[in-house]
Amino acid sequence: MEKTVRRIGVFTSGGDAPGMNAAIRSVVRTALHMGIECIGIRRGYHGLINGDFVPLTFESVSGLSRRGGTMLYSARSEDFKSQLGREKAVATCKLLGLDALVGIGGDGTFRGLLTLAQQGLSVIGIPGTIDNDIACSTYTIGYDTACNTALESIDKLRDTMQSHERCSVVEVMGRHAGHVALNVGVACGATAVLVPEQKVNYEEDLMEPIRRSRLAGRTHFMIIVAEGVEGGAYEVARQIKEATSLDTRVTVLGHVQRGGAPTVRDRIAATYMGYEAVRLLAEGKSCRVVAMDGESYVDYDITEALQMHKGLDQQTYTVMRALTGIQ
Ligand code: F6P
Repeated sequence: MEKTVRRIGVFTSGGDAPGMNAAIRSVVRTALHMGIECIGIRRGYHGLINGDFVPLTFESVSGLSRRGGTMLYSARSEDFKSQLGREKAVATCKLLGLDALVGIGGDGTFRGLLTLAQQGLSVIGIPGTIDNDIACSTYTIGYDTACNTALESIDKLRDTMQSHERCSVVEVMGRHAGHVALNVGVACGATAVLVPEQKVNYEEDLMEPIRRSRLAGRTHFMIIVAEGVEGGAYEVARQIKEATSLDTRVTVLGHVQRGGAPTVRDRIAATYMGYEAVRLLAEGKSCRVVAMDGESYVDYDITEALQMHKGLDQQTYTVMRALTGIQ
């Protein structure tokens, strides 16, 4: 028999991402529309263990779509990794009368949801991370905003690099993935883009594009490095200086990439995903991740989703190589 969902909890976990607030708003308003109450769990799994919650109403999520960060705070909980921590989390759900949970975050968040599902809770995951590294989904909430934020800074950097005829080495976020670096690198017209998915050949991937560009008359250079590349931006800059004597400067963009008002793309994706999450729960579904397949919204079993693999977008990679002149 289908379990009727009367009250759900929503939380954000892992690194925050612009658009998480829009997803929270959407979960709350969709739930209310379907006659379901909604409670916000604060500070991710940490809050679930400690009973840190806030009631959410139609009004309390008003104006949230345009705000960066997450009104529910976010955390990475060590305690939840223990059996005791997970038991406490289940006990909190019972105490709060929660029939289901919606968790917004990355793979770590989904693994947590899976353990709760195994203990009988209904759960749905929403992919929220600027890294766009969730295998089952072609898009994750926050990616577009983060890329735009990085691009804006790089455009500004280019002005000063051009004036001083320097080589700029910019490190962008992405953890172990190069999606942000590749996308931003193509968008800013980088001289070279280095990603962790491809073993870096300094000569072919870096020095040759710089030399070719120099021969074509260019006097400043923009190198985009994903944080997951071995040695990071400082090692790349050292190699460039050694091989070319160019005046080189490193900029690590860091957490600025996680802030700011979400773009249209992120607000829309977050809003649709929030809606889909509640719709699935209302239909009696559980242990699913809402995902995007191109422009369509789909959902996968969490176990299946966690086993998937996502590589770099091959078309973008090919375009990047062509435009930087790599054979
Ligand atoms: O997963 C999002 C992300 O910003 C990664 O790009 C980065 O490696 C990591 O989180 C940084 O984590 P923290 O905010 O804990 O320093």
